[in-house]
Amino acid sequence: MAPSISLAGKTCVVTGAGSGIGRALAERLSRQGCPVAICDWNEDTLNETASGLDGEVFKRKLDVSDRHAQMAFAADVREWAPAPFGMVINNAGVTVSQLAAQAAPEDDEWVMNVNFWGVVNGTRSFLPILLEQDQGSIVNVSSVFGLVGWPAQSMYCASKHAVRGYTEALRHELRGTNVRAVTVHPGGIKTNIVKNARFHMDDLGRTDKAALERDFESVAFTTPAKAAKTIQKGVEAGRGRVLIGADAVGYALLARVMPVRYYEVLKRLEPIVRRT
Ligand code: NAI
Repeated sequence: MAPSISLAGKTCVVTGAGSGIGRALAERLSRQGCPVAICDWNEDTLNETASGLDGEVFKRKLDVSDRHAQMAFAADVREWAPAPFGMVINNAGVTVSQLAAQAAPEDDEWVMNVNFWGVVNGTRSFLPILLEQDQGSIVNVSSVFGLVGWPAQSMYCASKHAVRGYTEALRHELRGTNVRAVTVHPGGIKTNIVKNARFHMDDLGRTDKAALERDFESVAFTTPAKAAKTIQKGVEAGRGRVLIGADAVGYALLARVMPVRYYEVLKRLEPIVRRT
């Protein structure tokens, strides 16, 4: 069992902090006395998050898929940081709902650029800082769709499996240091992820985005605040992998015991676990 690594009072970096899980994390960590460095490409929602925080905040409008912007962000956060770094969470993410055979390439590229390259950029930018101080965690947000595949989510699934593979490889590279690499697999969390998604068609062949939004609302039963708590506890416990929600635990189990036929089981459980 790895030793406990408290985040209290340490500098924490959160990407995609303008909404959902990222905002809840920034709020939670700030309440616990952590100076937080936050970014989002949506300046309005980023400012809303920042204005709700009482503690020390560094904020920047930033597209995580921009490698140079992330490098500059890391350099400036390092200058600013009033305390050693505890956690850098590469959380920003997006999705598109479309069938692989009819996929709009620019939307697939958007998803991969944000979800995978955004995570790689954040890791590359901050990892040297963590290695130099020989402490802290790089926390990369995957999904239950980094454990299984799902129709109409091919590029999202690909990006989240890529995050998982990248982070697991990094975890092994970091053996012998006090820096950790953590993969997070949320189940359904009540956030704006579907509202912010690009949409062509869902897995039921529907072209009405509102129907997908309603389905998501009904099955995403974990709050962002609960997700933030689970992430913090998992990181502090030194876990390499954090599952969020009973649905995530179910997906992980099913993917392990039925690595090819899990979808048949999940289809039978529709509509309860249709979208996470
Ligand atoms: P959300 O849509 O509420 O928040 C995502 C935030 O990321 C938004 O503020 C958005 O503006 C920001 N963002 C998007 N692209 C960006 C970019 N290129 N640069 C900077 N910021 C960018 O969604 P949520 O759910 O809070 O998403 C957080 C992470 O959790 C994502 O990686 C998502 O894939 C993952 N996730 C969410 C699940 C859910 O059910 N909500 C399930 C599994 C994983």
